[in-house]
Amino acid sequence: MTTKLFINARIHTPVDGGAPAGGAKQGRLAVFDPGAIFVKNGIIERIGPEKEISADLVRGRIYQLIDCKGRCLVPGFVDPHTHMCFAHRREAEFEMRIAGTPYLEILKRGGGILASVRAVREASAEELFQKTLARAISALGMGTTTLEIKSGYGLDVENELKMLLAIESVDRATPLDVVPTFLGAHAVPEEFAGDADGYVSMLVDEMLPAVKAQGIARFCDVFCEKGVFDIQQARRVLEAAAKLGLRAKIHADEVHDLGGASLAADLRAVSADHLLAADMAGVKKMGAAGTVAVLLPATAYSLKTPYAQARTIIDAGVPAALATDCNPGSSYTESMPFVMGLAVMQMDMTPAEALTAATLNAAYAIGEAERVGSLEVGKQADFLILDGQSPAMIAYHAGVNPVAEVFKRGECVTCSR
Ligand code: NIG
Ligand code: FE
Repeated sequence: MTTKLFINARIHTPVDGGAPAGGAKQGRLAVFDPGAIFVKNGIIERIGPEKEISADLVRGRIYQLIDCKGRCLVPGFVDPHTHMCFAHRREAEFEMRIAGTPYLEILKRGGGILASVRAVREASAEELFQKTLARAISALGMGTTTLEIKSGYGLDVENELKMLLAIESVDRATPLDVVPTFLGAHAVPEEFAGDADGYVSMLVDEMLPAVKAQGIARFCDVFCEKGVFDIQQARRVLEAAAKLGLRAKIHADEVHDLGGASLAADLRAVSADHLLAADMAGVKKMGAAGTVAVLLPATAYSLKTPYAQARTIIDAGVPAALATDCNPGSSYTESMPFVMGLAVMQMDMTPAEALTAATLNAAYAIGEAERVGSLEVGKQADFLILDGQSPAMIAYHAGVNPVAEVFKRGECVTCSR
């Protein structure tokens, strides 16, 4: 059936004011309790207090009635930053890191991202697709209904295109909406060791035009970090990408403050991500430029570093989003509930701010807010029924999956109704 009425739900949703929600707005949710949603062909046709909605719908319409049994209903999570297209895990490295070897030191020794590059180059497109698919399905079960996935473990034309193809195939094979990002500037590959400028030239002259011709990637990202790509190189890549219609995203100031936040604002990047070491002047510039601050607390957790200054960022009026950063090195999790729990418990975000960060602001961070990120008339009926009565349950019931049912375009994708 293509029409459905969801009743008896405790609906909590951010409200889309046409821009990502920063400052006090980030913590403001619309609450309908009890609320109802009327869905037609996967799109929200009506949403609001149950009394109003059921009264004018009963007359003369046929629909499937779904009782949410008083549980909390929130928008599907949007994970706007992942590297979940990879071929092998790096468990031995994890043990080295928790024993004290720094993350960037492992990369310097040819491990880290470069180890994942060797594995991806050896893997077939089919193998990459199957492995990425399994991770995306795991994320879906924990409430992620829209997902960004980056390339960045190929680092040559053939293997970056292979990754983007695998990522696009996950979009086709699952109910998820998958947004592909080109991250050719993730590390300097071994064949260009000591010649980052030479690699950037190849990236700009050969890879970017090939990525554009393939037509899959929507954004271009750069890992701007000491020993990886500096500010000038990042700018060169992102300006060339912009000319081809790929909007900028930046891994900014993750370990060292290189001024990535400020560069993101100058380029009007859609997001600047990580920001653990970012200076506040740069972050404030982002707010004025409409660049979303994507915070990745599971990375701080895994790298055992201090968390990003979420309170200062939000209080300065800069919209914050949350993402898993799911990757085999610095953050191996596909769980948005885990990330939201860390945001509340370790970064002092309120449950409402964390929800806005994981839905509306995350949707803005990948250019998807017209379709998803909040529950409003005209948007996709992507929502979750939680095992609890409020969004606080996500942080409160820690270490388990708080999502009871996942609906994508109005269809339950985790149950058989
Ligand atoms: O976002 N910082 C760079 N990229 C990833 C890590 C990738 C990896 O270690 O494989 C990140 O943390
Ligand atoms: Fe990342």
